Amino acid sequence: TKIAVFASGSGSNFQAIQEAIERGELHAKIELVVTDKPSAFVVTRAENYNIPVLALSPKEFSSKADYETAIIEALHKCHVEWIVLAGYMRLISEVLLTAYPQHIVNIHPSLLPAFPGKDAIGQAMEHGVKITGVTVHFVDEGMDTGPIIAQSAVQVVEGDREATEMAIHKEEHGLYTKALKQLLK
Ligand code: GRF
Repeated sequence: TKIAVFASGSGSNFQAIQEAIERGELHAKIELVVTDKPSAFVVTRAENYNIPVLALSPKEFSSKADYETAIIEALHKCHVEWIVLAGYMRLISEVLLTAYPQHIVNIHPSLLPAFPGKDAIGQAMEHGVKITGVTVHFVDEGMDTGPIIAQSAVQVVEGDREATEMAIHKEEHGLYTKALKQLLK
């Protein structure tokens, strides 16, 4: 299955997916990494695996629709079937949703519907929950609101943001691979 990974940051989830593919655990190929942040570390990671990168600054387009249309053109060129969001910090609009109905997924570092949006780990710690987690879900026009595909719980390490974050990221890498394995047949 041909997929594209969209990311705006470090790209550790991208790397986990690519490694699962290389181990033969996931029958997929990352045809393209799409980023809205040309300086993001995910670009370096993608280059290390010789995976093409499409880095487009939304600012350079006159509308979100134009920006997404340019992305879709690139996706179609390499016959991408599924879009995997991994730390992509933008809402997806109707344009992309219509081009890839039921074929866009996201991972979020909380047990949705708790703590949607930015800094879900900070929100959870601020709230004082003892258990948080990770959610893989289908993408709709909302912020982390689409139908849930898979979830996994993670214990908060009280007063230790870094340790909690590490535990969540580790869980993400396993859960995303597992969920994609079921979806990409
Ligand atoms: C992850 O925590 C993901 O759940 C969230 O953004 C983060 C991306 O991390 N949406 P990385 O860039 O994959 O390392």
